[in-house]
Amino acid sequence: MKVKGFLKDVGGASAVTKRRQAAYDRASAKPAHKDPMGAVAKALHPGLIPLTVESVRPASKTAKTIRFTSEAHLPYFRAGQFLTLVIERDGYRVTRPYSISSAPYETRGEHPCVEITVRRPKEGGFIANYLYDEVRAGDTFLGEVGLGEFHYEALRDARHVVAAAGGSGITPFVSMAKEIKNGREDFDLTILYGSVSEDDIVLREELEAAACDRVHVVHVLSGDNPGWTGEKGFLNRDIIKKYSAEDTTYFVCGPQVMYDFVQKELEALSVPKRRVRFEVFGQVRDITAFAGYPQEKKDDTYRLRVRIGVSETEIPARASEPIAVALERAGLKIHTACRSGSCGFCRIKVLSGKYFVCPQNDGRRGADRDFHYVHACSTYPLGDMTVKVNI
Ligand SMILES: Cc1cc2nc3c(=O)[nH]c(=O)nc-3n(C[C@H](O)[C@H](O)[C@H](O)COP(=O)(O)OP(=O)(O)OC[C@H]3O[C@@H](n4cnc5c(N)ncnc54)[C@H](O)[C@@H]3O)c2cc1C
Ligand code: FES
Repeated sequence: MKVKGFLKDVGGASAVTKRRQAAYDRASAKPAHKDPMGAVAKALHPGLIPLTVESVRPASKTAKTIRFTSEAHLPYFRAGQFLTLVIERDGYRVTRPYSISSAPYETRGEHPCVEITVRRPKEGGFIANYLYDEVRAGDTFLGEVGLGEFHYEALRDARHVVAAAGGSGITPFVSMAKEIKNGREDFDLTILYGSVSEDDIVLREELEAAACDRVHVVHVLSGDNPGWTGEKGFLNRDIIKKYSAEDTTYFVCGPQVMYDFVQKELEALSVPKRRVRFEVFGQVRDITAFAGYPQEKKDDTYRLRVRIGVSETEIPARASEPIAVALERAGLKIHTACRSGSCGFCRIKVLSGKYFVCPQNDGRRGADRDFHYVHACSTYPLGDMTVKVNI
């Protein structure tokens, strides 16, 4: 700001005050119906939009990339963010978050599209199997594009980023790599991608195509792979150190066991916490494995009274499943996105009853704790409960 001198600056400020007062005097007392800021916010974050599957193609032996187009305007997102898909299956309406594996620049231009890459689990899997096995070109979904905080931020992050990825956790980094190669993101990215064998590498071709002077991809194989000459083992401190610069930010995305391992290795390297970013996990596989969870309750099912507006419904709720799943099983709509306790979209008020909040996915603010607000995606009933759900 240019300082012109005391009198001129104070005079300038009072001139602004006069102009503002004149604008007030001219203004109509009728309410303003135009909301230009709201219109911009709505364009950037339109909420649920229709998505049509344009193609499904293999991304590895156990993963497929699904490309969506939309009759609506595809919103802008940051490389690393996720989209939440609304899926109707067997009469149930559920949501699942998927990191966007295409780059933001691909939502613009002549053929706007957005892609996710879904890995089929070896066992279990309510939605992943369905997306992998059954989804075809022409299928339609609703989805919310561009959510989450897992993206590069120049003011916060170091210029050099080391990404530690495992399994389908490679997807946000493919998006970042493509965006860097296209000149839309300005940082250096070294991806350390841990897989058991070469067959497990997801989006290998995309990664090779995105490699450039600013994007380096290092495959680290942990299995017995005769003939493999690249890095071997797990993403341990030696490998992390080898590929780090003096000032590096670490982005971590992968299965839960990898998070625990990499976190310890980074601590051993004395990396400050502000230089480490973890993507959220989603619903934990087994809540009963957490310290503090009362084991004697794990097979119980309780009565959950759900107050929506002036109506109240009673539904069953398993002690081993989050309240959000109980609501979905009962066909009650609840807004969910991250399913990890972090976005707050599924915030509900507990009017009575005992519950357990997953320690790993506890994103409640202090005031929420005091006034018994919880995130339905990370809260488990430990007895009969009454909750208030906003529509
Ligand atoms: C930010 C983020 C990004 C992600 N990105 C990717 C990605 O790029 N690629 C990828 O493959 N995965 C990704 N995931 C994981 C993905 O969201 C899913 O968790 C994964 O595909 C497995 O889903 P699933 O339904 O098959 O399994 P689960 O989520 O484990 O589903 C089983 C759960 O569904 C519930 N359930 C079972 N039956 C019903 C029913 N009838 N009604 C309602 N609920 C029921 C039960 O609670 C059960 O625990 C990401 C997760 C997060 C949080
Ligand atoms: S869905 Fe994000 S906090 Fe529950």
